[in-house]
Amino acid sequence: MKGSDFGNDFLWGVAIAAQQNEGAHNIDGRGASIWDAFARRQGKIKNGDKPSHACDFYYRYKDDILLARALGFKVFRFSIGWTRILPEGTGRVNKAGVAFYHKVIDECLELGMIPFVTLYHWDLPQELEKEGGWASHQLLKWFTRFVTVCMHEYGDKVKNWIVLNEPMGFTTLGYMIGKHAPGKMGLEYFLPAVHNAAMAQAEGGKIIRAEVKDAYIGTSFSCSEIMPYTQKEADVQAANRMDILLNRLFIEPSLGMGYPHEEGFNLTDRIHLHNKAWKYTERMKFDFDFIGIQNYFSLTVKHNPLIPYIQATEVSATTRKVPHTSMGWEINADSFYRMVKRFSAYEGVKDVIISEGGAYFKDNLVNGVIDDAHRIQYFQDYLQALLKAKQEGVNVKGYFAWTLMDNFEWSEGYKARFGLVHVDFKTQLRTIKNSGYWFRKLLC
Ligand code: NOJ
Repeated sequence: MKGSDFGNDFLWGVAIAAQQNEGAHNIDGRGASIWDAFARRQGKIKNGDKPSHACDFYYRYKDDILLARALGFKVFRFSIGWTRILPEGTGRVNKAGVAFYHKVIDECLELGMIPFVTLYHWDLPQELEKEGGWASHQLLKWFTRFVTVCMHEYGDKVKNWIVLNEPMGFTTLGYMIGKHAPGKMGLEYFLPAVHNAAMAQAEGGKIIRAEVKDAYIGTSFSCSEIMPYTQKEADVQAANRMDILLNRLFIEPSLGMGYPHEEGFNLTDRIHLHNKAWKYTERMKFDFDFIGIQNYFSLTVKHNPLIPYIQATEVSATTRKVPHTSMGWEINADSFYRMVKRFSAYEGVKDVIISEGGAYFKDNLVNGVIDDAHRIQYFQDYLQALLKAKQEGVNVKGYFAWTLMDNFEWSEGYKARFGLVHVDFKTQLRTIKNSGYWFRKLLC
């Protein structure tokens, strides 16, 4: 396989995110995010790690973007930290924060890299969380202001925008099971957060369309094929409920299909029951130019009546003794292929971009070399599966590797390393892993 097998205009990129990479948490007027606050709470993040310094991208962005280019990538995906732009989340604009992203964008353009910018990659301002965060009825107003400021500042330079990064990820992990910031738990947080995120993803798209000439607008969805543990009816039903929740809840309203609803598991009713104002509305629909797909694992589930609402639990890859990454996530390139086909087959989906793909495997640094053969194999298999889908007619326009360098992996802290480049977090020394060289060979 060669990079050129995907065609000469295929967008090969590498992705990072503000909270995971920038560090400089209190520099130049940046306000605190929910992750800064969450990391201060004991036991929330492995080893007590904090995102305060991360990979120091705030100071090293020039070298890091150059590194991305040297590995052969032509797209640089990064996100705008909401609290650098609006330290309190709304109101006053922080000029120094605005200037930082101008510098990052200019650097990309100067090096001939295409900036792909995510508006929301999980770093809600803590001041807004105090008012209810994603579960607040004010969310849309706050988000509108943030997006509008970004478009006025960067809209003439940046044409490629991703509105939300994995709304299913941040609403479930942050507002239902409390594993991620802000650590809220329960349907009373989750359901309004879902409603507001579904509104925000469309609203963001509309603002970009109105403000930016020639914009290429998308939003990114996590997805996981769900397999029943057995063919018993109860397990099959459990898998279906999980599928509705994890795969359909955000894409379907965005396409104007309403919330997914099925006999016995009607999310619309559930959300609507919670608050009469929270019905699916046409305002959740937006004509995206592309959708971003992020598939990190497939899941096998079984019926479990003890789990409230969803009544399903995962049977882990380790229990089933199937290949998995060091996160315990099942490796299954065929399943990735099926999800790409499934999402691209929705009526109304235009282009598809794999806006993230990658894996954490334990790395060993031996005499300055990291021979991460597992990661190389992973990319090889997943890209082969993607090529097959493309050759069968899927309109896939790009693939962005997650991630350029080891970074702050949310509640896993710095232990879970997904990078193509190793980072020594004490010295900030970067060492290109063999997977990084592998990409260079594929692409150059
Ligand atoms: C998806 C998220 O967008 C990203 O921030 C995270 O690091 C990867 N998954 C790996 O867990």
